[in-house]
Amino acid sequence: MIALDAVSREFQVGSQWVHALREVSLGIDAGDYVSIMGPSGSGKSTLLNILGVLDRPDSGSYRFEGVEVTALDDAGQTRLRRERIGFVFQAFHLVPRLTAADNVALPLLLAGVPADERAERVATALDAVGLTQRADHRPDQLSGGQRQRVAIARATIMRPGLLLADEPTGNLDRHSGGEVVELLEGLLDQGIALVVVTHDPELGQRAQRHLRMVDGVLEAEA
Ligand SMILES: Nc1ncnc2c1ncn2[C@@H]1O[C@H](COP(=O)(O)OP(=O)(O)OP(=O)(O)O)[C@@H](O)[C@H]1O
Ligand SMILES: [Mg+2]
Repeated sequence: MIALDAVSREFQVGSQWVHALREVSLGIDAGDYVSIMGPSGSGKSTLLNILGVLDRPDSGSYRFEGVEVTALDDAGQTRLRRERIGFVFQAFHLVPRLTAADNVALPLLLAGVPADERAERVATALDAVGLTQRADHRPDQLSGGQRQRVAIARATIMRPGLLLADEPTGNLDRHSGGEVVELLEGLLDQGIALVVVTHDPELGQRAQRHLRMVDGVLEAEA
């Protein structure tokens, strides 16, 4: 489903170059459960951003469901990202002034889905994450775990093929974190590919495939 081939990404800060990714190659199939661990600054988020088409590689190839992503223009990349990829971040990244329901509805709105279908799909998605009773709450009226569950509902409302999670439990207590992990893992049954970046060895071990990033290099699976 996904193939990265020799993807590199460098950042220039002043006169200094940072090699965030060094010729990273990786294949991911539908239904795969992949964890990526490694030291701070090793390139994990950079890799996730490229997989999520939030950032472009400087060199190398990225194929997603048969399409060469690097050859798409901005509009094509935006469309692919919105329709096929979900993102869950450590800091939730919900829109503060919108209710839970409106946050979840946002991708549908951008995709031009009619209001009645939107309402129906949002209700189903909130139900799936156990937040029907919190539909009208704004993010500041929700707990951290609830916020992340809203973020998961939003990330999956377009039925993406790939779900990327960058430290999804990093801001949560153990109990809420466990609930979030269960929700994410439940998506695997639907054939979604799940890639989780984490510093938590226990979470990392739950995946079927364990990758390790060190200084921009993706190391062989342990
Ligand atoms: N936009 C940017 N501009 C300049 N340098 C960047 C940028 N993004 C990342 N870097 C650098 O690239 C390297 C990899 O960063 P990245 O955020 O991918 O690390 P990480 O593995 O996710 O770390 P952490 O575990 O702390 O989240 C770091 O050295 C970082 O300073
Ligand atoms: Mg990071």
